Amino acid sequence: MSERRTVLVTGGCGFIGSHFVRHLAQQERFHIVVLDLLTYAGNPDNLEDLVGRPEVRLVRGDIADAELVDDLLGEEHPWAVANFAAETHVDRSILDPTPFLRSNVLGVQVLLQAVDRHKVSRFVQVSTDEVYGDVPSPTQASEEAPVRPSSPYAASKAAADLLCLAFRRTYGTPVVIVRSANNYGPRQFPEKLIPLVIRNALAGDVLPVYGDGRQVRDWLFVEDNCEALWFVLERGEEGGVYNVGTGEHRTNLEVVRALCAALAEEANLDEAELLSRIAFIPDRPGHDRRYAVDAGPIRRELGWAPRTLFDQGLRRTVRWYLGHEEWIHRTTSRDFQTYYDAVYRQFWSQLAR
Ligand code: TYD
Repeated sequence: MSERRTVLVTGGCGFIGSHFVRHLAQQERFHIVVLDLLTYAGNPDNLEDLVGRPEVRLVRGDIADAELVDDLLGEEHPWAVANFAAETHVDRSILDPTPFLRSNVLGVQVLLQAVDRHKVSRFVQVSTDEVYGDVPSPTQASEEAPVRPSSPYAASKAAADLLCLAFRRTYGTPVVIVRSANNYGPRQFPEKLIPLVIRNALAGDVLPVYGDGRQVRDWLFVEDNCEALWFVLERGEEGGVYNVGTGEHRTNLEVVRALCAALAEEANLDEAELLSRIAFIPDRPGHDRRYAVDAGPIRRELGWAPRTLFDQGLRRTVRWYLGHEEWIHRTTSRDFQTYYDAVYRQFWSQLAR
C-alpha cells in the first residue's frame, strides 16, 4: 500500500468523477482519496463497489472549504489532484448562478492554493467545450479559440480555466486543463438530456426538446473521456489545454429519436408511441446552437482516440438505466421535482433576475 501514489479526486462521487475513480482503481497502483460534498448529483452509490476497499478513502466535504482542503492535502500528500467537483447543469445555473460561482470558481481557487502549498505535482482541471460558446458550422474550436461562454455555468468554468492558467504563469502551478464534449453513459444524473429522456420514457411522461431541437452537440462516451483524462494527467503538457471530442455530431432531435429506437428494442416498447411523446417546449434562454471541438492535439500528442461509437455507447447507456430503475427513482426523489417544475412546467418563468 505505502508505495502507491496518492491521487485526490474531487467530485469523485459524481457522474464523470466516479468513472474516473474506477479507471484509476483498475490500475491497482494508486491510493485514491475522493473528496465530495455529496450534494444532489454526488452519490456514494456511484462508488458502491469501491468504497470500503483499503485503497479508496471517501471524505465528505466542500472544495471551497479552505481549511478542510488544506488539512486533507497536508494529511494525504497527493501526487496529483483531479478536479471533477462542480455544479454542472446549465439549466440550474440559469435558475440560480450562486452555487456555480462558489464551487466552480472559488472552489478551484482554494484547490490551486492548496496544490501550491503542498507541492502537488499535477493538477487536472476538468473543464468543458461549453467555454467556447456557439461554434458556427462547419468550424471546430481549437484550444486557442477565445472563450465566449453563454450560460452562467459556462462562464464559471471559463473563469476557472483562466484562473488555472494565471496560477500557472504566476506561481508555476502544475495545471493541465481538459475541455470535453458532451459526456453520456451510466450514472449520469437524470437532469441531462439523455438520462432525462430515458427516465421520462419509462415514466410515461413527455420527451422534452428545447426550441426546434436542431441544436448540435458532440457526444463522448464517459469511459472514453476518462481515458483521455488519464492520458492528460499522466503525460499532458504542463500549462496545456486539451480538447476532447469524437466528432460524432448529432442534433438533439436525432439523439431523442435514437433513444426512442433503442428503448423500443431493449425494453420492448412501442417506438411510434414513444416518438409521439416528443414535445417541443420553450427554449433554454441563451441556448448555444452548436458545440464542436478540434481534438487534434490530444490525438496526435498523447495518442488518444475514442473507442465507443455513439450508437454502441447509447445502447450501453440505455441498458444500464433499464437495469437500474431503482437508482433513477432514488436520485430523483428529493428536490428534483422542484427543479423539474421550474424548467418543464413553468418554462423558465422563475429566472434568477
Ligand atoms: P444537456 O444534457 O443539458 O447538456 P449541455 O447543455 O451541457 O449541452 O443538454 C444537451 C442538449 O439537449 C442541449 O442542447 C439542451 C438540450 N436539451 C433538451 O432539448 N431538452 C432537455 O430536456 C434537456 C435537459 C436538454
